[in-house]
Amino acid sequence: MIMNNQTVITQFFLLGLPIPTEHQQLFYVLFLAMYLTTVLGNLIIIILIILDSHLHTPMYVFLSNLSFSDLCFTSVTMPKLLQNMKSQDTPISYVACLTQMYFFNVFGSLEIFLLVVLAYDRYVAICLPLQYSSIMSPNLCVCLVVLSWVFTVFYAMFHTLLLARLSFCKNNVIPHFFCDISALLKLACSDIYINELMMLIWGGFLLIISLLLIIVSYVQIVSSILRISSTRAIHKLFSTCGSHLSVVSLFYGTIIGLYLCPSANNSTEKETAMSLMYTVVTPMLNPFIYSLRNRDMKEALIRVLCKKKISF
Ligand SMILES: *[C@@H]1O[C@H](CO)[C@@H](O)[C@H](O)[C@H]1NC(C)=O
Repeated sequence: MIMNNQTVITQFFLLGLPIPTEHQQLFYVLFLAMYLTTVLGNLIIIILIILDSHLHTPMYVFLSNLSFSDLCFTSVTMPKLLQNMKSQDTPISYVACLTQMYFFNVFGSLEIFLLVVLAYDRYVAICLPLQYSSIMSPNLCVCLVVLSWVFTVFYAMFHTLLLARLSFCKNNVIPHFFCDISALLKLACSDIYINELMMLIWGGFLLIISLLLIIVSYVQIVSSILRISSTRAIHKLFSTCGSHLSVVSLFYGTIIGLYLCPSANNSTEKETAMSLMYTVVTPMLNPFIYSLRNRDMKEALIRVLCKKKISF
């Protein structure tokens, strides 16, 4: 698959996961099950929130957007990964590869924005409960969601266009299971200085600012709950904020490790395994951690199911 310097590469091969052939079948079933769980879990949340009028509050609107984003985020990579596990050596065209990278960045950064918006929503709900409905007006909710979309669409476009300038000539085997921006940069034969610089500046800016906003929100929440200092409040704190923060740290930990300190883990196998964490595991866990553990959500599920039974 090594071509000479003159040929322009029109397709890539994804090497997939570093799994020994004898375990390929087992992992195929495992990933298929994880993908179906993610799709089903997130779909249930979106449908529940649409159907149940008790859940038409800002937090649930953001949660359903997060579920939608999770659903799309895994669907960008998983079907191709599953197809690749069945039949290795299926090429992916240059355009398809860049498209995958584009949508991966759109939904990846949308996820980050929504996590920030959710943290802010919880901050207002817990620290400023009396002003909640006037601050979190329907207009502001729509505004926050639309702004997140606009920013992520342009952010991903910017990185994709920067990558499209590069030429690929020698190696077209991507040692990854999807068209990852940093894996593609390693294959380019033109100068990637600008790309790396922009990724570091903009990616770092996005990650650090969003992480700071999330941390500030939760610090405010924790300190306001500790001031009440009843055991029930503290229990509530640990059950909601603890689970939110565990998803946030899993998501941010792997992304920061992969994109901002790429030299720290130069083994591609380790990188691939780490990117499984935020491409497969977090979108699968998000619906369970943010929504399905929630009492309102369980009640809504029961209401919706009972209504269906009655109408039968
Ligand atoms: C996302 O948020 C917007 C704006 O608040 C809302 O109108 C829309 O229904 C939400 N989308 C989903 C899939 O829930």
